[in-house]
Amino acid sequence: MTPTPIILDCDPGHDDAIAILLALASPEVELVGVTTVSGNQTLDKTTGNALRVLELAGRGDIPVYAGADAPIVRARDVAAHVHGESGLDGPDLPQPQHAAQSQHAVEYLATQFTRSDKPVLVATGPLTNVGLLFATHPGARPDRIILMGGAIGEGNRTPAAEFNIWADPEAAQRVFQEGLDTTMVGLDVTHGALIKDEHTERMRAAGRVGKVVAELMDFYARFHKARYPDLDGSPMHDPVCVAHLIDPTLMDVRDAAIEVDCTTGPSRGRTNVDWRNREHFGAPNAKVGVSIDGDRFAELVVDRISSLPASA
Ligand code: RIB
Ligand code: CA
Repeated sequence: MTPTPIILDCDPGHDDAIAILLALASPEVELVGVTTVSGNQTLDKTTGNALRVLELAGRGDIPVYAGADAPIVRARDVAAHVHGESGLDGPDLPQPQHAAQSQHAVEYLATQFTRSDKPVLVATGPLTNVGLLFATHPGARPDRIILMGGAIGEGNRTPAAEFNIWADPEAAQRVFQEGLDTTMVGLDVTHGALIKDEHTERMRAAGRVGKVVAELMDFYARFHKARYPDLDGSPMHDPVCVAHLIDPTLMDVRDAAIEVDCTTGPSRGRTNVDWRNREHFGAPNAKVGVSIDGDRFAELVVDRISSLPASA
């Protein structure tokens, strides 16, 4: 089996970190590069966190490229209440030994998506880098994008909007209007992709990387147990994007037309999703996740994270 090459554009971030580790632990995909963006925390922190997580898994060889440190139009508004001041509060991860590449993330993405053998773009943070790519390099177009963001129903940053889209709605609208093969992994699915305490304890017992992931979950679960007492676990938003590539049978998708609310009112960042061909709405421009096998997803995460090197 030839692994699918992927580039992960992310804002680590607890769930981004677990998405990176899931990719590294899975022979179905090959993580060829990481680009970072401000979102959960500022760019310097999300970039340092990406370097730390790659080194945790012994993959400091994978290049990291720093991107945008603010949304295209909106003011930056990080999610320290979810991910902490470091963006990866919980475990004590050492300062990274490697540095980010000098090339800007958008320039790196442009080189990769003008190749003949293009990687899949997996985007798990605000879509600022991707929107800038399309605005500055119209010839650089991924064949496939899988993005974590949006919701058919209730948001999380606001009742109307999910954080990644809310943070940079203009960038998100730009991505959806490109009409590429785009899969939106929204909260409707990720709130069914839960890591429970029992899963965390299994990973904690699985060696050095599993222990760090368990410590990430200890911190991440604190917020989610308080905000979402109705959920039996913590939603693994970003890892669902990687899991969808590993096992496409986990998540069901539907073709839909998506339009992002770019106003400044209470619906800012809402993804309006139509699959009923309503009049005066756009043509289908994406596939939207509508359901997930949460039990099989969680087992995949635990099994793969537990398979990572147990020692340095
Ligand atoms: O709304 C969840 C998304 O926002 C996840 O990607 C999380 O990491 C944050 O970026
Ligand atoms: Ca993220």
